Amino acid sequence: MKTKTIIRLLLALCLLLAGCAHQNSSSEPSATTEPAQATATEQQAEQTTAASTSADPTATAPTEIDGYPAFDFDSKTVTLNNGYEMPILGLGMFSLSDSQAENSTYWALKAGFRLIDTAHIYGNEAAVGRGLQRAIDEGVVTREEVFITTKMWTSDFDNGDAAVDASLERLCVDYIDLMILHHSQPSNDVQAYKAMERAVADGKLCSIGLSNYYEPDDFDRVVNATTIKPALLQNETHPYHQSGEMKAHIAQYGTVLESWFPLGGRGNTQTLFNDETISGIAAAHGVSAAQVIIRWHLQAGNICIPGSSNEQHIIEDYDVWDFELSEEEMARMTALDKNERFADY
Ligand SMILES: NC(=O)c1ccc[n+]([C@@H]2O[C@H](COP(=O)([O-])OP(=O)(O)OC[C@H]3O[C@@H](n4cnc5c(N)ncnc54)[C@H](OP(=O)(O)O)[C@@H]3O)[C@@H](O)[C@H]2O)c1
Repeated sequence: MKTKTIIRLLLALCLLLAGCAHQNSSSEPSATTEPAQATATEQQAEQTTAASTSADPTATAPTEIDGYPAFDFDSKTVTLNNGYEMPILGLGMFSLSDSQAENSTYWALKAGFRLIDTAHIYGNEAAVGRGLQRAIDEGVVTREEVFITTKMWTSDFDNGDAAVDASLERLCVDYIDLMILHHSQPSNDVQAYKAMERAVADGKLCSIGLSNYYEPDDFDRVVNATTIKPALLQNETHPYHQSGEMKAHIAQYGTVLESWFPLGGRGNTQTLFNDETISGIAAAHGVSAAQVIIRWHLQAGNICIPGSSNEQHIIEDYDVWDFELSEEEMARMTALDKNERFADY
């Protein structure tokens, strides 16, 4: 074997062993928007009550669907269908400016979050990389302790290999824990998924998955044309749109659901926070409505990635481990489902 080839093989091995070290051991633009046109605006910060916690931190079975990955409330992770561990609670970066994304990433890691969700279309991958580096430099975390998710935008689907490399470069990391296709796009999403599969083989990506696939047939279209089963499906999911059908469907592949707009999304959060069932449960536990919703996602088996640019909210959103919703409260939350989305894409 040539020296160059040996070096390449060794590098790939190092990435797999060291880089992807989690194994077995953390209104969006429409699908046709170009990255440069991502125009999400900041909405007013929502008011929240100060958090207090109570009760028994006992682990709760996340879901009773056969084959669906189990959540571990002690390690605060789930084991994906490929053996990698992923944190079940993360912070989302949608619509955050560069400085907000950098600070929020840093604050989140300081608060205990180990999962950050960004995307090429958000325009803040580089800022997330800076926030991560700041936390690493200060000894808050190591790279291996943090799980970074990013998404391939639809306009990159014809050039998936280059899109992976560009995200790696912007994030300034050697590997990405999870990359997902941002939206279903039947004309070329299979091609893009195959590029992500190649990047897994090259040690550039640890896990791959999908986002915004709302019909079982559409999800299966990609699964049946590719080799690696999606580790995760990220769809709009919250108490008014609980994604039960898709969650039951993806369980056969061991795919886990992740909720975007977990609190309803910017501009909609008060609708959920003021819901009488949610605010009633919050009052009963002495926690905020946001915390009740986040805890509901986790106990329901949804990886949850609330978005925030506010350090106090970020601290509050991670403070959900010391109380538990009872079966009766979970049933009342389940009864809120209206199969109603806030976004129209
Ligand atoms: N795949 C997709 O197509 C897609 C689409 C949308 C979103 N996402 C991902 O999902 C993440 C979450 O969605 P999102 O950020 O749009 O919506 P969200 O998490 O449902 O809601 C964010 C809103 O909640 C507020 N908030 C957060 N914590 C709070 C607290 N403790 N008390 C009061 N208000 C609080 C935030 O305000 P402050 O900033 O003032 O805290 C912001 O206004 C995104 O950031 C992104 O990573 C993916």
